[in-house]
Amino acid sequence: MSFKKEKICVIGAGYVGLVSGTCFAQIGHRVVCVDNNKEKIENLEKGILPIYEPGLEKMISKNKREGRLSFATSIAQGVGESNIIFIAVHTPTKENGETNLQYVEDVSREVARAMDKYKVLVSKSTMPVNTGQKIKEIITKYCPKGLAFDIVSNPEFLKEGTAIKDFLEPDRIVIGVESKKAEKIMRGIYKPIKSPIIFTSIESSEIIKHACNAFLATKISFINAIANICEKNSANVEEVAMAMGLDKRIGSDFLKAGIGFGGSCFPKDVDAFINVAKKSGYEFNLLKEVKKINKKQREIFLDNIIRHVPDIKGKNIAVWGLSFKPDTDDMREAPSVDIINGLIAQGAIVKAFDPVAIKKSKEIFKDEIMYCKDAKEALRDSVALVVLTEWGHFKKIKPEEIKKLMKFPRIFDGRNIFPLRKMADLGFDYHSIGKNKK
Ligand code: NAD
Ligand code: UGA
Repeated sequence: MSFKKEKICVIGAGYVGLVSGTCFAQIGHRVVCVDNNKEKIENLEKGILPIYEPGLEKMISKNKREGRLSFATSIAQGVGESNIIFIAVHTPTKENGETNLQYVEDVSREVARAMDKYKVLVSKSTMPVNTGQKIKEIITKYCPKGLAFDIVSNPEFLKEGTAIKDFLEPDRIVIGVESKKAEKIMRGIYKPIKSPIIFTSIESSEIIKHACNAFLATKISFINAIANICEKNSANVEEVAMAMGLDKRIGSDFLKAGIGFGGSCFPKDVDAFINVAKKSGYEFNLLKEVKKINKKQREIFLDNIIRHVPDIKGKNIAVWGLSFKPDTDDMREAPSVDIINGLIAQGAIVKAFDPVAIKKSKEIFKDEIMYCKDAKEALRDSVALVVLTEWGHFKKIKPEEIKKLMKFPRIFDGRNIFPLRKMADLGFDYHSIGKNKK
């Protein structure tokens, strides 16, 4: 396919920057990924990735080998080599719900100082509405006088674990622009990706990103609230969600009841959007409730374990899954952190296994829990199995085998990975989410 191959700089080689940069290289652009974490860049140059994301290692090494992808620690170098600069640094939420824009502002200043000709500066990080205008003010202030540039908002919708597919085959691409020139350049960059592109104002684009994450988080809290009602009424939340989801107006995705949402985005973006609304003179009480339901969901689950495991102090509890969702090693805001801390507070001995997140969870739990070499080892001598992440690998282990290995056949299934009837027939004391045993 003929299209203009651009020179792109992506600043911030984290989950989003690394995936976006690699995928832009994969579709033919020349990309330099810049990060101020020297160790991260040195490792990337050696082929050692800072994150686990299926397919990414292979794609990075291919694009490096073919000369389309490189790494650097200097923003000035990255900007000098490129025409389009993506900001993909983190945008954490402060205690008061405000977004900490320090990293975005620092990067914008450095980019401005390094500019020597027209460039397009694109925000890929999730930012509260009106941040684009702040970036524009910074660039105007610090770039050489009179230099032309464009700012663009191009939020990212990828999910960890399926990030490459989400980037290369997105449902849509959202681009907020202020000029026809920037629109043409952005359309050109994405030409090889066959998904609809929605051009909006920068402000709409910024709100679209927050609105999407807030809506998805709302769906999860909604189904978790329904799960709690199902449990009290001999109903099954999976049947309810399935039938609800067949209504096209509702849709079946993100209706999986469990122990609530975690990760680096939903919790932070729900807080940030509540704050954006407040600053706009609107109390977003619906989102405040979404947040409360999410927190409560972990508490209900933990209380249930404590209530059903007799004399939990000193007992072995097997934990399957530590990451906030499968196919990632990301531990940020993982429900496992609160639940395991709750078990530790009760004096339980936690024997945990996760296929990839053990290294990162050691930074959180240090030596407060035991790490097992595989899922089966965690079960040995345990009086309960607690499932916190629905890794595909766990679903393949036969319940009969689980029963043989455990000291007592008791399961708290926070992700509904086992069939209710079968577990009851096998004699498990089986607790799931939103499914009454009747
Ligand atoms: P991250 O913490 O994984 O990565 C951010 C990177 O930026 C780090 O490597 C850090 O060293 C680097 N950085 C910070 N300041 C820098 C500077 N001055 N110069 C160079 N590098 C610098 O963050 P992330 O998860 O990739 O998220 C980035 C943004 O994308 C956030 O706004 C997030 O909300 C958004 N987002 C994340 C996801 C996701 O799945 N993680 C998906 C969509 C959108
Ligand atoms: C989420 C969004 O899905 C992405 O579109 C967005 O780009 C990203 O946040 C972001 O802005 O960073 P991610 O956090 O990677 O992606 O993962 P999700 O698959 O959305 O899962 C988030 C949490 O919700 C997980 O803890 C997961 O277990 C939970 N979840 C998800 C449920 O409890 N039920 C569901 O039905 C779906």
